[in-house]
This record gives sequence, C-alpha cells and structure tokens, in this order.
Amino acid sequence: MIQIQENISLQYFNTFGIDAKARYFIEVSTDEALQELLHHTIFRNNKYLILGGGSNILFTKNFDGLVIKSAMTGITVTAENDDFIFVRAGSGENWHQLVMHCLQHNWGGVENLSLIPGTAGAAPMQNIGAYGVEIQNVIENVNGIELSTGTLRTFTNSDCHFNYRESIFKQELKEKYFISSITLRLTKKKHHLNTSYGAIQDVLKQHNIAHPTIQHVSDAVIAIRQSKLPDPRVIGNAGSFFKNPTAHEKEVELIKKEYPSIPIYPIGNQNVKVAAGWLIEQCGWKGKKLGNIGVHPQQALVLVNYGNGNGEEIFQLAMKIQASVKEKFGITLTTEVNII
Ligand code: EPU
Repeated sequence: MIQIQENISLQYFNTFGIDAKARYFIEVSTDEALQELLHHTIFRNNKYLILGGGSNILFTKNFDGLVIKSAMTGITVTAENDDFIFVRAGSGENWHQLVMHCLQHNWGGVENLSLIPGTAGAAPMQNIGAYGVEIQNVIENVNGIELSTGTLRTFTNSDCHFNYRESIFKQELKEKYFISSITLRLTKKKHHLNTSYGAIQDVLKQHNIAHPTIQHVSDAVIAIRQSKLPDPRVIGNAGSFFKNPTAHEKEVELIKKEYPSIPIYPIGNQNVKVAAGWLIEQCGWKGKKLGNIGVHPQQALVLVNYGNGNGEEIFQLAMKIQASVKEKFGITLTTEVNII
C-alpha cells in the first residue's frame, strides 16, 4: 500500500535548500509501487513533478501538486565480456556513490564525473558532464515507465537524443517517463582516461603522477571541484545555473577585440562555446552578495543561497545577470537549472 504525504517541505530535497512545500509527496521504491501510484486518484487529479536529487532545480514557489521521488536502489552487473562490464543502477541511487562503487571495482568511464550531486536516474536527463566526459559516453540504456500507460520502455543510447546538457527526457518526453534504472557500459581493464582538461593535468603534475589510474583522475576531479564549487550541504546551490552559450565565430571576433582573453571552445560549423562564468564575471557579478543570496566568489556561474534565501529572489538575480550579459556582449544565457 503506497503512502502519499501532504504539505511536505522540500527544503532537504533540493540542493538550493529552498523551503518550498509540496501539496503531495511520495517516494517510490519499486516498479509495483509506481504502478499503484498511476491508478491513485491523487496522481490522476493533480499535476506532478518527478524529482531526482534536487540538484538542478529552483523552486520559486510552492508546488501545488504531487512530487514523485525515486527511492529505487540497487547496483547490479547485468552482463560482461572481456573488455566491458554492464552495470545497472536504480534511479534513486546517489550518483557519486555509484561512481565510488565503480572505482572500487576498477570499472572505468565515470571517474571524471566524480562528486556531481544528484541521482543516477536524473543523470541522463540533463546528460551530466564534467572535465571532458558526459554520461552519454557510458550510457548503455535507460529504463523508463510511461506515466500515462505504466508501460516499461528501454531507451538505447541513441534513443536518448543526448546533447550538451540535453536529452529526450528534458524535451519531447519531459515529465512523460519515470526513469527506473540506468545501465552503464564501463571498461574493465583498458581504461580510456580523459585527462585533456588543463586543470586535471595540473593536479596530476603537482602530485608527480605520470601514469594515472582512474582513481587518480577521480581524486583530481574531486580536488578541482572542491576548490571552486561550493558544497551544497554547506552553501545552497545547484552547480552551474546557466549553460555555456554557443556563439558564431564572427560574433566572438568582435568581442575579442576588446576582450582578447575570452575563453572559447570551437564546436564546429564556425560556432564556439563561450564560458558563461567568464561573461558573468566581466559584468561584475562574481562574489556579489545580496542579502541571503549571491554569486559564488570562486565561480560566477554558480548562484548561491547563503541560508533563508527564497527561490524568487534567486530567480530575479538570475534574470538581472542574464540581462546584463545580453547588454554587454549581445549573448543570451539560458538556464541549465529547471525553474519551477
Ligand atoms: N571562468 C571565469 N570566471 C568564473 C568562472 C569561470 O573567468 O567566474 C572561466 C575559467 O577561467 C575558464 C572558463 O571560464 O577559462 C571555464 O570555467 P570552468 O572550467 O570552471 O568550467 P565551466 O565552463 O564554468 C563547465 C560545466 C560544469 C563542469 C565544468 C568542468 C556547464 C554549464 N558547466 O563549467 O558543470 O563541472 O565545466 O567540466 O557546462 C554543472 O553543470 O552544474 C557543472 C558544474
């Protein structure tokens, strides 16, 4: 028998620590419980929101509907061959714990994604990425349950339509599927290390590591993240608030005349990705504190709640930042964080 709770604070269910309330709230730990929920009158008569680790969401108001959170756990090996191991994780598993589990077993592919907050089930939704690796590089498949019919569907990697911080689950199928598990395809011995990111190389050099293992790469990523990204358990935040925008080379050439150091990364078709953190810093926002909220002093792309900040204030700050970047550089920032 499933139990739906009423008027629940979501403060501990979102990493911004916003004290928004859900009219109804349920944690679902099995496929059977989810099937039961789909027939429940509260589900049928209310809008709903599927919540992962709450690490990529900003509540600007209470949610007058049903919040469904996955508590589906379990990490199992589903298949293996000489080179690869296929590891399935329940959607409610903590992503970083899953990465640590893989490292303990010397399974490679997710080490660059160490310390990313959130759950395994939410990870493919926004195609989490860091230090040159995205989850799309290791996803074998995603199991989802269609909420209108209760039908289970397995999405192959290409079915997921992965893109930079995007997938089918954030686009056409938004709120249509409840992800129950993901399966990763990981290397067993010939690991393909990605140490292309300058900061990783710097840390490895500092520690005189000439032949890094996946554990070394994970340790380096953790050290880098801890040095510039605030720990959400200490200061509320949702990582990068905006995506790094795409601009045309010609557009950037003009900006370069005045700002030769603008960090850009070519992505083909004469387009480049521009570092949003840099754009925001140039507009003078880095380290700005406005009462209970602000812009992180080490990473201007991260908006923070120092405590008791509310979601609407953070949203208003984000809109001001967006407007000033548009005015100064003519570039439109779009949010990476889901605004509710
Ligand atoms: N920069 C500044 N000022 C700042 C912040 C950054 O000038 O305040 C410059 C840096 O000096 C660097 C460039 O911008 O030249 C890029 O900065 P950084 O390496 O910190 O990475 P990012 O582009 O800001 C992205 C992801 C992060 C991911 C890192 C590492 C997005 C939106 N963000 O950040 O992902 O951890 O790369 O791969 O793509 C997240 O998605 O929540 C997230 C944290």
